[in-house]
Amino acid sequence: MTTNSALRIIMLGPPGSGKGTQATRICERYNLGHVSTGDILRRHIQQGSELGQKAETAMAAGELLPDSLLYQMLEELYEDRDGEHVSFILDGFPRSLEQAEALEEFLQNRGQKVHQVVMLMLDDEKVVARLAGRRTCPECGRSYHLLAAPPRIEGVCDEDGTELIWRTDDHEEIIRRRLQTYHQETEPVATFYQEQGVLREVDASADMDQVEARIASGLKELM
Ligand code: AP5
Repeated sequence: MTTNSALRIIMLGPPGSGKGTQATRICERYNLGHVSTGDILRRHIQQGSELGQKAETAMAAGELLPDSLLYQMLEELYEDRDGEHVSFILDGFPRSLEQAEALEEFLQNRGQKVHQVVMLMLDDEKVVARLAGRRTCPECGRSYHLLAAPPRIEGVCDEDGTELIWRTDDHEEIIRRRLQTYHQETEPVATFYQEQGVLREVDASADMDQVEARIASGLKELM
């Protein structure tokens, strides 16, 4: 692995491109921590916390939350662990140029850096098809797809038996708003990391095993 035995990866890409699916697989494969800002926020909404109440409206509208809330959340998460040696995949953060610059400063202050940014490429119409068929476990966050990845028992999570839900932001009108937010706010993040030489584009239109193999082959050089 890397010199300080920690690996820091970012999973970037449009909504529904498979960030969560692939982050889960790669984390299991290499024993990394999976930090999904979307999952953390959904848990806060479920618990009715102050952060959850602030997050709910923005998420239902397909918009981004204010940066300050995300920074506070990530700082707490990071400090909870052994920061220096922590290996992780960040899924859903950064999502704007401002967030990317803030993360860079945050890591730099700790003598750390991002090792690779995996950019999953998928066109808008495929995104709509994937998200409209997605069903999610509200307990563990695992994603299924009605056609591409159905659970063993219909409507129930394989991991913990919880009833699966259709996320409120996975309906077509909101999916298209999320895509608009992505093109405006998040695409510049890819350019930011490309200029740093750490961006690796991966075609995410193939099946899940193939996408995983492509990501894993790009990570080999870091091991
Ligand atoms: P978040 O939950 O992060 O949503 P997202 O980025 O829109 O991503 P998704 O979770 O929808 O998709 P994914 O790429 O993980 O795809 P998945 O693997 O599930 O964020 C939600 C909201 O929270 C945001 O809109 C915002 O409001 C807020 N937020 C979060 N982070 C924020 C931040 N940093 N700043 C401000 N606000 C923030 O796959 C999708 C489906 O496709 C599944 O059904 C899956 O089974 C299927 N699938 C996956 N791969 C394949 C394949 N290869 N072939 C066929 N089907 C596949």
